[in-house]
Amino acid sequence: MKEKDMLMWDETLFKESDIFELDYLPDYFPHRDAQLNTIRFALKPALRGGRPLNCLLFGPPGTGKTSASLKIFDELKEYTDKVLTVKVNCQIDSTRFAVISRIYKSVMGVAPPASGVSFNRIFDKLAKKLIDLDKVLVVVLDDINYLFYEGHADEVMYSLLRAHEQYPGSKISVIAIVNDPEVIYGFDQRVSSVFLPEEIEFPRYEFSEIDDILADRIRRGFFPNVVTAGAQKMMAEFVSESGDLRVGVDLLKRSGLNAEKRASKKVDEEDVKKAYTASRSLYISKTLSNLTDHEKLIIRLVAESKEITAGDLYEKFNAQTNLGYTRFYEIMNKMISANVVTADFSGKGSKGRTRIIRSVFKKEEVDALLK
Ligand SMILES: Nc1ncnc2c1ncn2[C@@H]1O[C@H](COP(=O)(O)OP(=O)(O)O)[C@@H](O)[C@H]1O
Ligand SMILES: [Mg+2]
Repeated sequence: MKEKDMLMWDETLFKESDIFELDYLPDYFPHRDAQLNTIRFALKPALRGGRPLNCLLFGPPGTGKTSASLKIFDELKEYTDKVLTVKVNCQIDSTRFAVISRIYKSVMGVAPPASGVSFNRIFDKLAKKLIDLDKVLVVVLDDINYLFYEGHADEVMYSLLRAHEQYPGSKISVIAIVNDPEVIYGFDQRVSSVFLPEEIEFPRYEFSEIDDILADRIRRGFFPNVVTAGAQKMMAEFVSESGDLRVGVDLLKRSGLNAEKRASKKVDEEDVKKAYTASRSLYISKTLSNLTDHEKLIIRLVAESKEITAGDLYEKFNAQTNLGYTRFYEIMNKMISANVVTADFSGKGSKGRTRIIRSVFKKEEVDALLK
């Protein structure tokens, strides 16, 4: 490397490193106008103090669902002080008690007692407070599928959606966020009869959209001309494989750090390739380490064959575990929404709808990490 191309030890390529944090909410949020407009429309009654429509945002990971809901929250706050907003990350708060505590804390400003108080008592105080304040509450239940695993989804939804029956004058609406919209068929009758949400799809981003969004982040986050055109294109290609923009944000940061590590003033394709390999294996090992033994068995069985029908997979699974179809079905749903396996209908088969299961990860990747 020529000296003029070398980065001095006190220099950096990053103009603004916040831009590459995952919780950074970008000003420029393109390619989601239709989705944002539908959410705005659903929440509009809140501007006049009414109860908004409920929403279901669905689509694969990294398609802007969480960010879109937070964008709308910011907008609401500009227009009105009638609305209180809370986002609950159900992956972290995965029980009814944790969810209600999170909401309570946000509305009341203090956390409820951590023990000795029932869900219903906390909910009671919350609903009365809302009536007192004369405020509308909009709750985002992000990654709500996590509430299903221990059977807490129904009670949370039931309480929030039917609050106005038990507490006349209270106004609560829910924005539920999931990867797989089929999740909502898991609600019991009491919930599904009142949860008739605006369904808003977030499709995978296409190459040109990804390229556009990455270009904007590059302009804001790096000093001018740091990222080469080839490096940018390669990032957009990698991200297109999954359509998951989270991968893109992570790639930008890691590629920049790689370039700094070798004291280069430019981020080039080598930096991106290295970053991609590292972030992918980190991502896979994180995902796999969160799986239970039964889930690990399934991922092994799926990765062994290029693709397998749900029926064949069940037979193999059952032969090794003796577990029945209901349990198998539950585990599969969880793995599909965690994006560990994909399930597409083949259109073939005697019953017309055979599900074809494929592993998202390669066999070698699974083998290496599940030893
Ligand atoms: N349309 C967009 N414009 C700019 N950045 C986006 C857009 N969509 C997603 N992102 C970025 O991609 C990352 C993942 O988005 P997120 O909202 O968390 O996706 P999801 O909730 O669907 O998994 C975030 O860092 C977010 O800022
Ligand atoms: Mg999200």
